[in-house]
Amino acid sequence: MISKQEWADLTPLNSLNLPARARWLVKTSGRKAFLEALDFAATQNLPVFPLGGGSNLVLARDLEGMVLQQLPEPLDWSGAANQTVTLRVPAGYNWHQLVLETTSRGLFGLENLALIPGQAGAAPIQNIGAYGAEVSDCLETVEGYWLEPGKEPRADTLAAKDCELAYRNSRFKQDWKGRFIITALQLCLQKNAQPRLGYADLAERVASKQELRNHQQQACIPLARIIADTVTDIRREKLPDPARLPNAGSFFKNPLVTKQKAEELKQRWPDLPVYATKDGVKLAAGWMIDQCGFKGYQKGRFAVHERQALVLVHQGGGQVTELLALAEEIKASVEQRFGVELEQEPELIA
Ligand code: EPU
Repeated sequence: MISKQEWADLTPLNSLNLPARARWLVKTSGRKAFLEALDFAATQNLPVFPLGGGSNLVLARDLEGMVLQQLPEPLDWSGAANQTVTLRVPAGYNWHQLVLETTSRGLFGLENLALIPGQAGAAPIQNIGAYGAEVSDCLETVEGYWLEPGKEPRADTLAAKDCELAYRNSRFKQDWKGRFIITALQLCLQKNAQPRLGYADLAERVASKQELRNHQQQACIPLARIIADTVTDIRREKLPDPARLPNAGSFFKNPLVTKQKAEELKQRWPDLPVYATKDGVKLAAGWMIDQCGFKGYQKGRFAVHERQALVLVHQGGGQVTELLALAEEIKASVEQRFGVELEQEPELIA
Protein backbone atom coordinates (compact mmCIF):
# COMPACT_ATOMS: atom_id res chain seq x y z
CA MET A 1 0.00 0.00 0.00
CA ILE A 2 1.26 3.47 -0.85
CA SER A 3 -0.36 6.88 -0.39
CA LYS A 4 0.99 10.20 -1.63
CA GLN A 5 -0.06 13.67 -0.56
CA GLU A 6 1.37 16.88 -1.96
CA TRP A 7 2.05 19.85 0.38
CA ALA A 8 0.91 17.87 3.39
CA ASP A 9 0.47 19.48 6.80
CA LEU A 10 3.07 18.07 9.22
CA THR A 11 1.68 19.87 12.28
CA PRO A 12 -0.14 16.80 13.62
CA LEU A 13 2.79 14.53 12.67
CA ASN A 14 5.38 16.13 14.98
CA SER A 15 4.82 15.82 18.71
CA LEU A 16 5.71 19.49 19.36
CA ASN A 17 2.90 20.41 16.93
CA LEU A 18 5.11 22.92 15.12
CA PRO A 19 3.52 24.16 11.92
CA ALA A 20 5.31 22.88 8.80
CA ARG A 21 4.49 21.25 5.49
CA ALA A 22 6.01 18.50 3.35
CA ARG A 23 6.39 18.89 -0.41
CA TRP A 24 5.36 15.24 -0.54
CA LEU A 25 4.19 13.00 2.28
CA VAL A 26 4.35 9.37 1.25
CA LYS A 27 3.10 6.54 3.48
CA THR A 28 4.00 2.96 2.70
CA SER A 29 3.23 -0.52 3.93
CA GLY A 30 5.41 -3.42 2.80
CA ARG A 31 8.70 -3.63 0.93
CA LYS A 32 7.22 -3.18 -2.55
CA ALA A 33 5.53 0.10 -1.64
CA PHE A 34 8.65 1.26 0.21
CA LEU A 35 10.82 0.71 -2.88
CA GLU A 36 8.18 2.34 -5.08
CA ALA A 37 8.36 5.43 -2.83
CA LEU A 38 12.17 5.57 -3.10
CA ASP A 39 11.85 5.27 -6.86
CA PHE A 40 9.35 8.16 -6.90
CA ALA A 41 11.79 10.33 -4.91
CA ALA A 42 14.67 9.43 -7.25
CA THR A 43 12.73 10.24 -10.43
CA GLN A 44 11.46 13.53 -8.99
CA ASN A 45 14.92 14.34 -7.60
CA LEU A 46 13.55 14.75 -4.07
CA PRO A 47 15.64 14.26 -0.93
CA VAL A 48 14.10 11.60 1.32
CA PHE A 49 13.24 12.46 4.90
CA PRO A 50 12.19 9.42 6.95
CA LEU A 51 9.60 10.31 9.61
CA GLY A 52 8.70 8.04 12.51
CA GLY A 53 6.44 9.27 15.28
CA GLY A 54 7.86 12.79 14.91
CA SER A 55 8.59 12.83 18.64
CA ASN A 56 12.21 13.94 18.47
CA LEU A 57 11.97 16.74 15.95
CA VAL A 58 12.02 20.53 15.95
CA LEU A 59 10.60 21.56 12.60
CA ALA A 60 11.68 25.11 11.80
CA ARG A 61 10.79 25.05 8.09
CA ASP A 62 8.85 23.22 5.42
CA LEU A 63 10.41 20.05 4.03
CA GLU A 64 11.01 20.43 0.31
CA GLY A 65 11.60 16.73 -0.36
CA MET A 66 9.67 13.53 0.25
CA VAL A 67 8.73 12.74 3.82
CA LEU A 68 8.50 8.98 4.06
CA GLN A 69 6.47 7.32 6.77
CA GLN A 70 6.40 3.54 7.10
CA LEU A 71 3.07 2.23 8.44
CA PRO A 72 2.98 -0.51 11.09
CA GLU A 73 3.19 -4.11 9.91
CA PRO A 74 2.45 -7.22 12.00
CA LEU A 75 5.09 -8.99 14.09
CA ASP A 76 6.12 -12.58 13.47
CA TRP A 77 5.82 -14.43 16.79
CA SER A 78 6.84 -17.86 15.45
CA GLY A 79 9.89 -18.14 17.76
CA ALA A 80 8.10 -16.79 20.85
CA ALA A 81 8.02 -20.05 22.82
CA ASN A 82 11.81 -20.18 23.16
CA GLN A 83 13.78 -18.93 26.17
CA THR A 84 15.64 -16.51 23.93
CA VAL A 85 13.59 -14.86 21.23
CA THR A 86 15.01 -12.99 18.27
CA LEU A 87 12.18 -10.74 17.20
CA ARG A 88 12.10 -8.85 13.91
CA VAL A 89 10.27 -5.56 14.31
CA PRO A 90 9.23 -3.53 11.25
CA ALA A 91 10.27 0.13 11.50
CA GLY A 92 6.70 1.45 11.51
CA TYR A 93 5.68 -0.50 14.62
CA ASN A 94 4.62 1.65 17.57
CA TRP A 95 7.27 1.41 20.29
CA HIS A 96 5.06 1.33 23.36
CA GLN A 97 2.76 -1.25 21.74
CA LEU A 98 5.88 -3.38 21.16
CA VAL A 99 6.89 -3.03 24.83
CA LEU A 100 3.40 -4.10 25.97
CA GLU A 101 3.29 -7.10 23.64
CA THR A 102 6.77 -8.41 24.44
CA THR A 103 6.48 -7.97 28.21
CA SER A 104 2.98 -9.53 28.29
CA ARG A 105 4.62 -12.66 26.85
CA GLY A 106 7.06 -12.62 29.75
CA LEU A 107 9.96 -11.42 27.61
CA PHE A 108 12.57 -9.17 29.22
CA GLY A 109 14.52 -6.57 27.29
CA LEU A 110 12.19 -3.63 26.66
CA GLU A 111 10.36 -3.34 30.02
CA ASN A 112 12.27 -0.25 31.26
CA LEU A 113 11.59 1.50 27.95
CA ALA A 114 7.79 1.65 28.30
CA LEU A 115 5.79 4.69 27.15
CA ILE A 116 8.59 6.17 25.04
CA PRO A 117 6.76 7.81 22.15
CA GLY A 118 7.58 7.05 18.54
CA GLN A 119 8.12 4.14 16.19
CA ALA A 120 10.52 1.20 16.52
CA GLY A 121 12.59 2.28 13.50
CA ALA A 122 13.68 5.45 15.28
CA ALA A 123 14.86 3.66 18.44
CA PRO A 124 18.48 2.99 17.35
CA ILE A 125 18.98 6.50 15.91
CA GLN A 126 19.21 8.15 19.31
CA ASN A 127 19.57 4.84 21.17
CA ILE A 128 16.46 5.46 23.27
CA GLY A 129 16.99 4.92 26.97
CA ALA A 130 15.31 5.24 30.35
CA TYR A 131 15.54 3.78 33.87
CA GLY A 132 18.97 2.25 33.42
CA ALA A 133 18.29 0.58 30.06
CA GLU A 134 18.96 1.45 26.43
CA VAL A 135 17.75 -0.21 23.23
CA SER A 136 21.42 -1.08 22.56
CA ASP A 137 21.16 -3.64 25.41
CA CYS A 138 19.07 -5.95 23.22
CA LEU A 139 19.54 -4.71 19.66
CA GLU A 140 21.13 -7.29 17.35
CA THR A 141 20.80 -5.93 13.84
CA VAL A 142 19.29 -3.04 11.91
CA GLU A 143 17.85 -3.63 8.43
CA GLY A 144 17.46 -0.95 5.82
CA TYR A 145 18.65 0.62 2.61
CA TRP A 146 21.65 2.75 1.70
CA LEU A 147 20.73 5.71 -0.48
CA GLU A 148 23.29 7.13 -2.88
CA PRO A 149 22.52 9.74 -5.52
CA GLY A 150 22.18 8.20 -8.98
CA LYS A 151 22.28 4.63 -7.63
CA GLU A 152 19.65 2.01 -6.83
CA PRO A 153 18.91 1.76 -3.08
CA ARG A 154 21.04 -1.06 -1.62
CA ALA A 155 19.58 -3.38 1.03
CA ASP A 156 21.82 -4.10 4.01
CA THR A 157 21.69 -5.59 7.50
CA LEU A 158 23.95 -3.83 9.98
CA ALA A 159 25.27 -5.45 13.15
CA ALA A 160 24.35 -3.32 16.19
CA LYS A 161 28.02 -3.25 17.26
CA ASP A 162 28.89 -1.39 14.04
CA CYS A 163 26.30 1.33 14.69
CA GLU A 164 28.29 2.90 17.59
CA LEU A 165 25.29 3.19 19.87
CA ALA A 166 26.05 5.47 22.82
CA TYR A 167 24.06 7.72 25.17
CA ARG A 168 21.41 9.32 22.90
CA ASN A 169 23.73 8.84 19.93
CA SER A 170 24.68 6.52 17.04
CA ARG A 171 26.19 6.62 13.56
CA PHE A 172 22.65 7.19 12.23
CA LYS A 173 22.90 10.70 13.74
CA GLN A 174 26.51 11.17 12.61
CA ASP A 175 28.28 9.96 9.47
CA TRP A 176 25.31 7.83 8.27
CA LYS A 177 22.83 10.69 8.65
CA GLY A 178 20.59 10.93 5.58
CA ARG A 179 22.34 7.94 3.99
CA PHE A 180 20.60 4.93 5.55
CA ILE A 181 16.86 4.34 5.95
CA ILE A 182 15.92 1.85 8.64
CA THR A 183 13.18 -0.64 7.71
CA ALA A 184 13.35 -3.16 10.60
CA LEU A 185 15.18 -4.11 13.81
CA GLN A 186 16.08 -7.47 15.26
CA LEU A 187 15.90 -7.59 19.03
CA CYS A 188 17.14 -10.30 21.35
CA LEU A 189 14.65 -10.82 24.21
CA GLN A 190 14.89 -13.27 27.12
CA LYS A 191 12.38 -15.20 29.23
CA ASN A 192 14.80 -15.62 32.13
CA ALA A 193 16.63 -12.37 32.68
CA GLN A 194 17.64 -10.31 35.66
CA PRO A 195 15.26 -7.35 35.98
CA ARG A 196 17.08 -4.02 35.87
CA LEU A 197 15.86 -2.27 38.98
CA GLY A 198 18.78 0.03 39.73
CA TYR A 199 16.45 3.04 40.09
CA ALA A 200 15.34 3.02 43.74
CA ASP A 201 11.86 4.41 42.99
CA LEU A 202 11.25 1.77 40.31
CA ALA A 203 12.51 -1.08 42.53
CA GLU A 204 10.30 -0.02 45.46
CA ARG A 205 7.16 0.32 43.38
CA VAL A 206 7.70 -3.01 41.60
CA ALA A 207 8.27 -4.77 44.96
CA SER A 208 5.09 -3.34 46.48
CA LYS A 209 3.05 -4.24 43.37
CA GLN A 210 4.32 -7.82 43.55
CA GLU A 211 3.55 -8.01 47.26
CA LEU A 212 0.02 -6.74 46.73
CA ARG A 213 -0.58 -9.25 43.96
CA ASN A 214 0.72 -12.14 46.08
CA HIS A 215 -1.41 -11.00 49.00
CA GLN A 216 -4.55 -10.78 46.86
CA GLN A 217 -3.60 -14.04 45.11
CA GLN A 218 -4.22 -12.42 41.75
CA ALA A 219 -3.54 -14.16 38.45
CA CYS A 220 0.09 -14.12 37.51
CA ILE A 221 1.19 -11.17 35.42
CA PRO A 222 4.72 -11.60 34.05
CA LEU A 223 7.32 -9.61 36.00
CA ALA A 224 8.51 -7.95 32.77
CA ARG A 225 4.97 -6.57 32.27
CA ILE A 226 4.73 -5.41 35.91
CA ILE A 227 7.97 -3.45 35.39
CA ALA A 228 6.70 -1.97 32.11
CA ASP A 229 3.44 -0.91 33.82
CA THR A 230 5.38 0.65 36.71
CA VAL A 231 7.65 2.59 34.35
CA THR A 232 4.48 3.74 32.56
CA ASP A 233 3.02 5.00 35.87
CA ILE A 234 6.21 6.88 36.78
CA ARG A 235 6.48 8.50 33.34
CA ARG A 236 2.80 9.53 33.42
CA GLU A 237 3.40 11.25 36.78
CA LYS A 238 6.48 13.17 35.61
CA LEU A 239 6.16 13.73 31.90
CA PRO A 240 3.44 15.52 29.93
CA ASP A 241 1.46 13.41 27.44
CA PRO A 242 2.37 14.79 23.97
CA ALA A 243 -1.22 14.12 22.81
CA ARG A 244 -2.49 16.63 25.40
CA LEU A 245 0.42 19.02 25.82
CA PRO A 246 2.73 18.91 22.80
CA ASN A 247 6.42 18.28 23.62
CA ALA A 248 9.45 16.33 22.40
CA GLY A 249 10.46 14.66 25.68
CA SER A 250 13.79 15.78 27.12
CA PHE A 251 14.79 18.90 25.20
CA PHE A 252 18.42 18.60 26.33
CA LYS A 253 20.78 15.68 26.90
CA ASN A 254 22.18 15.09 30.34
CA PRO A 255 25.72 16.46 29.84
CA LEU A 256 28.71 14.17 30.22
CA VAL A 257 31.64 15.74 32.08
CA THR A 258 34.97 14.52 33.43
CA LYS A 259 35.16 13.04 36.93
CA GLN A 260 37.16 16.08 38.01
CA LYS A 261 34.57 18.56 36.75
CA ALA A 262 31.80 16.53 38.45
CA GLU A 263 33.71 16.59 41.75
CA GLU A 264 34.17 20.37 41.53
CA LEU A 265 30.46 20.83 40.88
CA LYS A 266 29.52 18.45 43.71
CA GLN A 267 31.61 20.49 46.16
CA ARG A 268 29.64 23.58 45.31
CA TRP A 269 26.25 21.92 44.79
CA PRO A 270 26.18 18.75 46.92
CA ASP A 271 22.57 17.99 45.84
CA LEU A 272 23.37 17.86 42.11
CA PRO A 273 22.40 14.34 40.93
CA VAL A 274 25.33 12.68 39.10
CA TYR A 275 25.59 9.26 37.47
CA ALA A 276 28.91 7.53 36.79
CA THR A 277 29.10 5.99 33.30
CA LYS A 278 31.90 4.30 31.38
CA ASP A 279 32.52 7.52 29.41
CA GLY A 280 32.51 10.01 32.30
CA VAL A 281 29.97 11.43 34.72
CA LYS A 282 26.45 12.33 33.59
CA LEU A 283 24.83 15.34 35.26
CA ALA A 284 21.07 15.81 35.70
CA ALA A 285 20.32 18.66 33.30
CA GLY A 286 16.74 18.87 34.62
CA TRP A 287 18.06 19.61 38.13
CA MET A 288 20.37 22.37 36.85
CA ILE A 289 17.59 24.00 34.78
CA ASP A 290 15.31 23.74 37.81
CA GLN A 291 17.96 25.40 40.03
CA CYS A 292 18.14 28.29 37.56
CA GLY A 293 14.46 28.89 38.36
CA PHE A 294 12.99 27.90 35.00
CA LYS A 295 10.21 25.49 36.07
CA GLY A 296 6.97 26.92 34.69
CA TYR A 297 8.85 29.75 32.91
CA GLN A 298 7.07 30.90 29.77
CA LYS A 299 8.24 32.39 26.48
CA GLY A 300 5.49 33.14 23.97
CA ARG A 301 3.38 29.99 23.69
CA PHE A 302 6.16 27.69 25.02
CA ALA A 303 7.02 26.85 28.61
CA VAL A 304 9.31 24.79 30.81
CA HIS A 305 7.23 21.92 32.18
CA GLU A 306 6.11 22.30 35.80
CA ARG A 307 7.12 18.78 36.87
CA GLN A 308 10.23 18.11 34.74
CA ALA A 309 12.40 21.09 33.74
CA LEU A 310 14.08 19.09 30.96
CA VAL A 311 10.85 19.13 28.94
CA LEU A 312 9.66 22.16 26.96
CA VAL A 313 5.96 22.24 26.14
CA HIS A 314 3.96 23.99 23.42
CA GLN A 315 0.66 25.50 24.50
CA GLY A 316 -0.50 25.87 20.90
CA GLY A 317 -0.31 28.60 18.29
CA GLY A 318 3.40 29.30 18.95
CA GLN A 319 6.27 30.06 16.60
CA VAL A 320 9.40 27.94 16.51
CA THR A 321 11.48 31.11 17.07
CA GLU A 322 9.94 31.41 20.55
CA LEU A 323 10.88 27.82 21.34
CA LEU A 324 14.47 28.29 20.15
CA ALA A 325 14.76 31.57 22.10
CA LEU A 326 13.55 29.78 25.24
CA ALA A 327 16.10 26.99 24.69
CA GLU A 328 18.90 29.56 24.22
CA GLU A 329 17.93 31.40 27.40
CA ILE A 330 18.04 28.14 29.36
CA LYS A 331 21.41 27.15 27.87
CA ALA A 332 22.94 30.55 28.66
CA SER A 333 21.67 30.48 32.22
CA VAL A 334 22.97 26.93 32.93
CA GLU A 335 26.31 27.77 31.33
CA GLN A 336 26.69 30.91 33.42
CA ARG A 337 25.78 29.24 36.70
CA PHE A 338 27.38 25.81 36.35
CA GLY A 339 29.91 26.27 33.52
CA VAL A 340 28.27 23.36 31.68
CA GLU A 341 27.08 23.43 28.09
CA LEU A 342 23.74 21.82 27.34
CA GLU A 343 23.18 20.08 24.03
CA GLN A 344 19.76 19.99 22.41
CA GLU A 345 18.32 16.50 22.11
CA PRO A 346 15.61 16.66 19.40
CA GLU A 347 16.84 17.11 15.85
CA LEU A 348 16.50 20.69 14.58
CA ILE A 349 15.39 20.94 10.96
CA ALA A 350 16.36 24.55 10.17
N1 EPU B 1 15.31 16.84 38.63
C1 EPU B 1 15.02 18.02 39.29
N2 EPU B 1 14.18 18.91 38.68
C2 EPU B 1 13.64 18.68 37.46
C3 EPU B 1 13.95 17.49 36.79
C4 EPU B 1 14.81 16.58 37.39
O1 EPU B 1 15.49 18.26 40.39
O2 EPU B 1 12.89 19.54 36.98
C5 EPU B 1 16.17 15.84 39.29
C6 EPU B 1 15.35 14.63 39.73
O3 EPU B 1 14.81 14.80 40.99
C7 EPU B 1 16.39 13.52 39.70
C8 EPU B 1 17.32 13.92 38.56
O4 EPU B 1 17.11 15.33 38.35
O5 EPU B 1 17.11 13.49 40.87
C9 EPU B 1 17.05 13.16 37.26
O6 EPU B 1 15.71 13.30 36.87
P1 EPU B 1 14.87 12.12 36.19
O7 EPU B 1 15.01 10.85 36.96
O8 EPU B 1 13.50 12.63 35.92
O9 EPU B 1 15.61 11.82 34.82
P2 EPU B 1 16.37 12.76 33.78
O10 EPU B 1 17.83 12.54 33.92
O11 EPU B 1 15.87 14.16 33.88
C10 EPU B 1 16.52 10.96 31.88
C11 EPU B 1 16.12 10.81 30.44
C12 EPU B 1 14.63 10.58 30.33
C13 EPU B 1 14.28 9.30 31.08
C14 EPU B 1 14.72 9.47 32.56
C15 EPU B 1 14.51 8.23 33.38
C16 EPU B 1 17.71 12.14 29.19
C17 EPU B 1 17.97 13.36 28.38
N3 EPU B 1 16.50 12.01 29.70
O12 EPU B 1 15.88 12.12 32.38
O13 EPU B 1 14.34 10.38 28.95
O14 EPU B 1 12.90 9.04 31.03
O15 EPU B 1 16.13 9.79 32.60
O16 EPU B 1 15.49 7.29 33.13
O17 EPU B 1 18.62 11.31 29.34
C18 EPU B 1 13.72 11.55 26.97
O18 EPU B 1 14.83 11.29 26.53
O19 EPU B 1 12.87 12.18 26.29
C19 EPU B 1 13.37 11.15 28.33
C20 EPU B 1 12.25 11.53 28.91
